[in-house]
Amino acid sequence: MVVVEQLDTVLITGASAGIGAAYADRFARRGHPVVLVARNEERLEALALRLSREYAVKAEVLAADLTVPDERARVERRLSADDAIGVLVNNAGIEGGPALTQTTPDAVQAMIELNVTAPSRLVAALLPRLLARGRGSIINIASILALAPELFDGAYAASKSYVLSYTQTLHKEVAARGIRVQCVLPGVTRTAIWNATGGVDAFPPRMIMEVDEMVDAALTGYDQGELVTIPSLVDGAEWKRFEEARRHMLPELSRSVAADRYKSDIPEDA
Ligand SMILES: NC(=O)c1ccc[n+]([C@@H]2O[C@H](COP(=O)([O-])OP(=O)(O)OC[C@H]3O[C@@H](n4cnc5c(N)ncnc54)[C@H](OP(=O)(O)O)[C@@H]3O)[C@@H](O)[C@H]2O)c1
Repeated sequence: MVVVEQLDTVLITGASAGIGAAYADRFARRGHPVVLVARNEERLEALALRLSREYAVKAEVLAADLTVPDERARVERRLSADDAIGVLVNNAGIEGGPALTQTTPDAVQAMIELNVTAPSRLVAALLPRLLARGRGSIINIASILALAPELFDGAYAASKSYVLSYTQTLHKEVAARGIRVQCVLPGVTRTAIWNATGGVDAFPPRMIMEVDEMVDAALTGYDQGELVTIPSLVDGAEWKRFEEARRHMLPELSRSVAADRYKSDIPEDA
């Protein structure tokens, strides 16, 4: 008798459009059952139908607004209870809204709820089960703005710096326990996220990547076991040098005495 191993189910947030829909397509194409999360149930149903027909996989819809605690809790419960789910793609995100000088407390919080709170809560819900079985993967979608806050207004870049830093700490905590973690830093990618800010075509064409190209590159990085994947970065050694420079500072970042340049030149008894 041939025993066909059941591949892990992949739960993807923000799967109704753009990058998340492309992830759903690619994981389903690889034979993974998928659970699709976003607010627009109709779009999710249409995608689920296409994926199940095209790739003969189970594709399920879990409609939820991840900024609404009760709805987010349904996704958290699913992640913590469903033993079939072994991969989480934390992709749902919104652009940051107005500049920091023009934003409102509610607007900045709404962005943080989706870009920061939701992925952190979903990982916290899933992790105990993955750790118990000693395998699984978490893919977090950040942005190149995590490395380039001066290129954009508002708190969006800061939310993506959180995702990068969070993923690096997560990797440190779980890598030796069988859990794969990846942070993806897309550059400008042609999706509807840009519609609110004048459309993606405001950028020069050489800066805009198509969604499929971005997700295929990110999944190649995933297959190669990368912790941080920057699909646009031509010379991957640049990221390695950046990380080496950062790590070089680590022993100096906490010391009992202040650095000489912060010592006053004026003697105390003068
Ligand atoms: N496109 C880019 O240039 C780019 C660059 C760097 C990083 N990113 C990141 O990539 C990720 C995906 O963005 P995208 O470009 O694919 O954007 P998108 O086309 O606008 O898709 C965003 C997805 O998130 C879902 N979503 C939005 N608000 C939600 C909420 N409150 N609850 C649940 N789901 C919600 C949307 O579905 P519903 O409306 O149905 O809820 C949609 O499926 C984001 O984290 C974004 O920050 C994008």
